[in-house]
Amino acid sequence: MFKINDNYLKLPGSYLFSTIAKKVNEFTNANPDKKIIRLGIGDVTQPLAPAIIESLHKAVDEMGKAETFHGYAPDLGYEFLRTTIQKNDYEARGCDIQADEIFVSDGAKSDSANIQEIFSIDNKIAVCDPVYPVYVDSNVMAGRTGSYDPATERWSDVIYMPCTADNHFAPEFPTENPDLIYLCFPNNPTGSMVTKEQLQAWVDYANKIGAIIIYDAAYEAYISEENVPHTIYECEGARTCAIELKSFSKNAGFTGTRLGYAVVPKDIKSNGVTLHSLWARRHGTKYNGAPYIIQRAGEAVYSEAGKAQLKQQVAYYMNNAKVILEGLKKAGYEVYGGVNAPYIWLKTPNQMTSWEFFDYLLENANVVGTPGSGFGPSGEGYFRLTAFGNYENTVEAVERIIKL
Ligand SMILES: Cc1ncc(COP(=O)(O)O)c(C=O)c1O
Repeated sequence: MFKINDNYLKLPGSYLFSTIAKKVNEFTNANPDKKIIRLGIGDVTQPLAPAIIESLHKAVDEMGKAETFHGYAPDLGYEFLRTTIQKNDYEARGCDIQADEIFVSDGAKSDSANIQEIFSIDNKIAVCDPVYPVYVDSNVMAGRTGSYDPATERWSDVIYMPCTADNHFAPEFPTENPDLIYLCFPNNPTGSMVTKEQLQAWVDYANKIGAIIIYDAAYEAYISEENVPHTIYECEGARTCAIELKSFSKNAGFTGTRLGYAVVPKDIKSNGVTLHSLWARRHGTKYNGAPYIIQRAGEAVYSEAGKAQLKQQVAYYMNNAKVILEGLKKAGYEVYGGVNAPYIWLKTPNQMTSWEFFDYLLENANVVGTPGSGFGPSGEGYFRLTAFGNYENTVEAVERIIKL
């Protein structure tokens, strides 16, 4: 008789965004005349830039001719894309990362969920709280997190690093040594960023205790401040302790197109075995590569025209962030983020819980956001709004919130 992987049964509750969708549906059914503005899910709304569309069309045409047809992509990604990424995202920033240390994938969600597979089940993970849920849930599925306590909403074998206004949403070194440390900057959901010195301290710490940092830089394109690291490889020593995950979703609108990459430097070793060789083996066995057409589209992200168009797209969303940030500040809200990230993280007013504020905003302003508690217990009392909507809706949503 077959047995299921009962680690899946340990996963608590329904997925955050399903609960939100259910509540919004109920509200819409009861109030069909109300115009709902959605600033909840972190999905982009602007169409793909013209340079990307042009490249997609060209690649589609190539696929229709025998001479230029492409079948299975190389496991680790086409050389043209890996070299382009290496030059633009690393060499141009003075970082020592080689093209063969870059693994092209279908996005940072898969990579951040899958990367744990190459580590022993005995490894202890540390995560920020609140956190992008995929890091914890994928470790739950693997059986690495112990038991769940519904009262504290915490797993017995996970080290939580609270990130609240008290520590400016920057995690502190845990008292117990972790083996795998998940960091995400610019941060989802808090919209916070760390300085180069802060990130360097994490790299030094990881090297000292022999831990690996899994650094999710999906929102790197939204960095606007100086002295803020665009990649963890700006930090000295990161080649021996850090894996970096990147996505084309937020910088180039690929949420539905799907492309990302992981960087695994060859200097990370355990008893003489490189993590690079394990990830290459895993990729080769379980993945047949991102489509040629999409990898060509990814290459166009780095073309002169692509860069210029995407700079405008990011600026469009960041203007929305400014509208939300300034509007809410004017209305007396305590607000964070929105400067190096497309997320605004606000303190709920009048001691409301995150879900109470969700209902209040939905019912009175017909605006949908995301309750902070959905990202972890330290998110309780906070609320996330995204800048990924269109400008007109964002302005209207903020006007409605100010009027409350
Ligand atoms: C922190 C973080 N990492 C990864 C992802 C997923 O990226 P992708 O679309 O490349 O799978 C998201 C998406 O919202 C995210 O917020």
